[in-house]
Amino acid sequence: MLTQSVSANTAAYLQLEEQYGAHNYHPLPVVLEKGAGVFLWDVDGKRYYDFLSGYSAVNQGHCHPKIIASLIEQAQKLTLTSRAFHNNLLGEYAKFITAYFGYEKVLPMNTGVEGGETAIKLARRWAYTKKGVAENKAKIIFAEGNFWGRTLAAISSSNDPSSYKGFGPYMPGFELVPYNNIIALEQAFQDKNVAAFMVEPIQGEAGVVVPDEGYLTKVRELCTAYNVLFIADEIQTGLARTGKMLACDHENVKPDILILGKALSGGVLPVSAVLANDDVMMNIKPGEHGSTYGGNPLACAVATTALTVLKDERMAENAADMGALLRTELAALQSPFIETIRGKGLLNAIVIKHSNPEAAWDLCIELKENGLLAKPTHGDKIRFAPPLLITKDQIIECVDIIDRSLRKLG
Ligand SMILES: Cc1ncc(COP(=O)(O)O)c(C=O)c1O
Repeated sequence: MLTQSVSANTAAYLQLEEQYGAHNYHPLPVVLEKGAGVFLWDVDGKRYYDFLSGYSAVNQGHCHPKIIASLIEQAQKLTLTSRAFHNNLLGEYAKFITAYFGYEKVLPMNTGVEGGETAIKLARRWAYTKKGVAENKAKIIFAEGNFWGRTLAAISSSNDPSSYKGFGPYMPGFELVPYNNIIALEQAFQDKNVAAFMVEPIQGEAGVVVPDEGYLTKVRELCTAYNVLFIADEIQTGLARTGKMLACDHENVKPDILILGKALSGGVLPVSAVLANDDVMMNIKPGEHGSTYGGNPLACAVATTALTVLKDERMAENAADMGALLRTELAALQSPFIETIRGKGLLNAIVIKHSNPEAAWDLCIELKENGLLAKPTHGDKIRFAPPLLITKDQIIECVDIIDRSLRKLG
């Protein structure tokens, strides 16, 4: 869809995608060609603050020089061997990432949704080999409002019709409970066939839904009490985004299976990882799971550096500080069009209150005009999730852009 505000140059790019690309997304009408740190530039040379960060894949900032240096260095040496052979980086990377997060084993994959699929396969296999669930009876519990991708398994666990409708039949053995509801979860756990509860510590796509403090602690306690695996989908919340390395760290809980993706490569390549201890991981034998690209040396090099810079540059600490500042400054605007401000660290959302149901989209267009890129989710929510190296002065400038844009909503 073209708006009157785009240049002829931009319009030509939009037209190409419209004509030759599948219409499975509805992007803002901006065409980007360059990124550095918290900034993006469009094909007309206009600069924007990035308040989406590639859905939290670009936590380390666009084209982080150290990550790009690792990419280039390794790309000139060796990029892919497949897992038919060993490569000289996989072992080192596995040692590094397992020590980093405190697990015995890692299973490397590429996209986030593959990480979710992997976690579910691990949980089902564990249920059959360790828990004693009868073949084909294992159940996985999910929370309503979850989002973990677009594969058939992922949409089978979704209660959002725009995700699942018209793509059935669906994966059996999945069940939903309300998010942030420990009583419903315990009720679901009465079934001895439950293998795992897979949950986002904060629901990202649902609009940054933060559960009550103590929820994750109770999830951990219940999972232990009922011998159910706790799978944390930290693909969006992990890697310093919420002000801690993992969102689960806010409550000091350790999931049995941890899924990471997105920022694991700093937005450079699709790299995901599933971490677990031997009791869970060693039930899968050679030939039973994998991926051509999973664990490729390029991904290993990039992910190692992406994780290193998160700690070296104290990105979790900055996310905590800048997130608190952002929420305070947004609240101080006292805009009649902001119903709710919520979030943790730099994973935030505002809920728009307006008589026009398109107001969140219109606001994002106005923000774009004023030099800030954000995208609505579920109609009335807008995520504010800039790269984690954003500074105090930049936050203040961005809130000013948001203020000016809100005033235009009228
Ligand atoms: C929490 C969560 N899990 C999984 C995914 C899927 O990741 P990918 O798009 O890399 O497959 C997403 C994507 O937005 C996500 O937010």
